[in-house]
Amino acid sequence: MLVKRRAFLKGFVGLAGLTAISSLFEQRLLAQSNLVEGIAVDMPLRERAAKSGLIYGAATGWEQLHDSPFAAQFAKECGILVPESELKWLAVRPKPDAFNFTGPDWLMQFAISNNMLFRGHTLVWHEALPAWFQSTVNSSNAEATLKKHISTVVGHYAGKMHSWDVVNEVILPWNNQPDGLRNSPWLKLLGPGYIDLAFREAAKADPKALLVLNQDRIENDTAADDQCRAATLALLQRLKSSGTPVHALGIESHLGLDAGIFNAEKFKSFLRDVASLGLKIMITELDVTDQDLPADISTRDSIIAGKYEEFLSVVIEEPSVIAVLTWGLSDKYSWLADERPRTDGTPVRSLPLDMNLQRKLAWTALAQAFDKVAAGPAPPQDLRVL
Ligand code: XIL
Repeated sequence: MLVKRRAFLKGFVGLAGLTAISSLFEQRLLAQSNLVEGIAVDMPLRERAAKSGLIYGAATGWEQLHDSPFAAQFAKECGILVPESELKWLAVRPKPDAFNFTGPDWLMQFAISNNMLFRGHTLVWHEALPAWFQSTVNSSNAEATLKKHISTVVGHYAGKMHSWDVVNEVILPWNNQPDGLRNSPWLKLLGPGYIDLAFREAAKADPKALLVLNQDRIENDTAADDQCRAATLALLQRLKSSGTPVHALGIESHLGLDAGIFNAEKFKSFLRDVASLGLKIMITELDVTDQDLPADISTRDSIIAGKYEEFLSVVIEEPSVIAVLTWGLSDKYSWLADERPRTDGTPVRSLPLDMNLQRKLAWTALAQAFDKVAAGPAPPQDLRVL
């Protein structure tokens, strides 16, 4: 179904909305936006992405998918499913010698039954470690513990995983550690070699999965993100030159709306630098916080969508980008409700669908970004194909 082209967003916010928008940056996002509402609204994101050689999907969980209307929307819109929590140590490893795959196995079945890809998050992280970790793991058994975890968990899903976030958020340059590494329990126990070890062990357990280094704080134009980008690139270069099997960079993309926070040229050149190492790129956890935005819903939605549009317009230009995932599909289940709640207590509106599972302007921003790739010149064959 074709719906008539919608006027520029600024026309829709209205005067009252515009005066409520405090920052000039927010006004610029609105003014620049070319979002139109719902061209071919009946075509879901997964199909639009697929037409462009891209994968669209989202994080979700066991509980969310027991909400039938939500599950139906998830199956409709998403071509890939990533468990939000079920594959973290805390969930999968209740005791040092016990593994529990009930939750993630159920999620994998849901993905298979709905013709979706399945991806793993995450094997090595400084968070979500079980209580027994601190009292049980020491420098003499850490390597064996990590190897056992990776070989068991990756082995369990071998041949069925699209990709694994092998290591998560390992860069944090202001921790004063070598190479800008985060001073995580793993670094303390094993030194910088834990990263290579994790990738090698994952490759052994599943030679087919795409192995990803997933990183936050590398999207923005801030001094901190400059440091993170430089350290991430240097780490990827080191891993590649030592033959460590890393295949892709995951860029989390939890976006904020501070003025001047995004520099398209800088981000584009970072994506190029990553691609030039022979790596794929995945946008793994995209969402936009609306913590400090005005309460008015249409104003808020327009600003959020403008941010999606600004970011995605750079992302989709890079042929090494193979997938875009949002961290959740509907505002009904956004982690930002706890992590970045609004001071006025109104529900956050960070994701493509609203609380009632209706498509919002953020959905349109994603749809249009995917449509733009489909309309453009075909990418070189080898770049978007896994
Ligand atoms: C978050 C989940 O969304 C929350 O439900 C959980 O309580 C904490 O973790 N970066 C990551 C994800 O890599 O694993 C985090 O997920 C969000 C930030």
